[in-house]
Amino acid sequence: MTANLVQFTLDGTPAQAPAGTTILKAAQQLGIAIPTICYHDYCTANALCRICVVEVKGARVLVPACTATVQDGMEIHTQSERVQRARRVILEMLYSTVDLSEAPEIEAMAAAYDVDCQRFPQAEPRRPPLIDDNPMYVRDYAKCILCWRCVQVCAEDAQYTYAINFKGRGYETQISTFYEVPMPESTCVFCGQCIGVCPTGALKFKRQYLLEIGYAIEEILQMTRSERGGRRRRAERSA
Ligand code: SF4
Ligand code: FES
Repeated sequence: MTANLVQFTLDGTPAQAPAGTTILKAAQQLGIAIPTICYHDYCTANALCRICVVEVKGARVLVPACTATVQDGMEIHTQSERVQRARRVILEMLYSTVDLSEAPEIEAMAAAYDVDCQRFPQAEPRRPPLIDDNPMYVRDYAKCILCWRCVQVCAEDAQYTYAINFKGRGYETQISTFYEVPMPESTCVFCGQCIGVCPTGALKFKRQYLLEIGYAIEEILQMTRSERGGRRRRAERSA
């Protein structure tokens, strides 16, 4: 055996991978798909959503494949009954509070795991009002699953701008600017990377949003240009 390779089994298939390889990557190399939501190839994995959990023989709890690494002798099961039940309940809980109507990857998972979207009818959906405070994009946190990707790309994973982070606790947790200031008053540079990684449509370019709610292209251009002009004029006045 090569010193830095570890031996394990994945769904009964003997395999090996360099030490430090995550279970997710090892599975991908074997052609075994494990669902992910909070994980993104270009972001630091934080194991927040737990949809990627797998069963490891002898382990007390299910293990997040996006952060746990393969170990010598591991016996990993990616589709056991326990794993499937856990993923189904995670999705049912998400559906009970969040508007996932613009999250096609999650909708596909819901179909694959036979999810009952009405499983928890007593749950209180989170429906904060849409935030439209700048000419570039809108934020609809009723669609936010708190995956943290936008915060990460705004910070050390890409932009080093730190315009957004969590605010509140528990049920009240939401992504926000610091002190909830409007986006143009934050450190945001409107790079758009947060929109690029958002899996649910919670963050959206304003022109796309206006198009979807029925504005004509000419109207949209006029509205967003004049807002930009207004912002520039405000900046010139205060200089
Ligand atoms: S706004 Fe989008 S990217 Fe940011 S935490 Fe919510 S779902 Fe994730
Ligand atoms: S994808 Fe692994 S915990 Fe979210």
